[in-house]
Amino acid sequence: MSDLPTGVERRAFDGEKRLATQGDPVYGEATRDGWRLWDARRSKLGAMLDLGMDTGLAGGEHVLYLGAAAGTTVSHVADFAGPTYAVEFAPRPTRDLLDVAADRDRLFPLLKDAREPETYAHVVEPVDVLVQDVATRTQAEVALRNRQFLRSDGRLLLAVKARSEDVTRDPEAVFGDVLDSLREGYEILDRERLEPYHADHLAVVARPR
Ligand SMILES: C[S@@+](CC[C@H](N)C(=O)[O-])C[C@H]1O[C@@H](n2cnc3c(N)ncnc32)[C@H](O)[C@@H]1O
Repeated sequence: MSDLPTGVERRAFDGEKRLATQGDPVYGEATRDGWRLWDARRSKLGAMLDLGMDTGLAGGEHVLYLGAAAGTTVSHVADFAGPTYAVEFAPRPTRDLLDVAADRDRLFPLLKDAREPETYAHVVEPVDVLVQDVATRTQAEVALRNRQFLRSDGRLLLAVKARSEDVTRDPEAVFGDVLDSLREGYEILDRERLEPYHADHLAVVARPR
């Protein structure tokens, strides 16, 4: 099992060791001694870490996070990472995300469409990590368009939801197509299904090429 980034630990919650970060609670998660439980059932990145995937995260990285929603996962990321740009295109969750960011001086919400990186290219600096959890069609295309922000030694941490691409197809066939498209701009380092935490999701670790 790979190391957790600095700032992420397995702490005891009700007698069980669970992932946790230090920060203000956001989504009703349990807290103990200043640590907040990072619920892998509510977070694809949390599931990747809990399953022991080698994400390359060490802590302190510059991050671009696509599909931030109301901030459940990106709030944990901003607890242990450096500057964290959080892109979300739906106004309602972005309002909640703004509240989450009010307590976190390294978290920068952007009400933007991740398919149009040119609309935030003037704000986002080069990043070490691109996290993507948009759960829409053309997930590979979104990752390819945002590759421009990733440093050459950076990492893409991608969650692919099969049913967002095509509800009728076998998830493995969908994942195969997404990986083929991703290879146009990335070298795939690792991939793993996220069961039991998230059904029909594939997690991918990749680097730009
Ligand atoms: C599965 S949810 C993300 C959950 C979040 N990553 C978390 O773990 O807390 C997917 C989110 O991506 C957003 N999204 C989908 N397509 C997008 C796009 N093109 N640009 C920005 N956000 C997008 C949706 O509005 C939704 O809030």
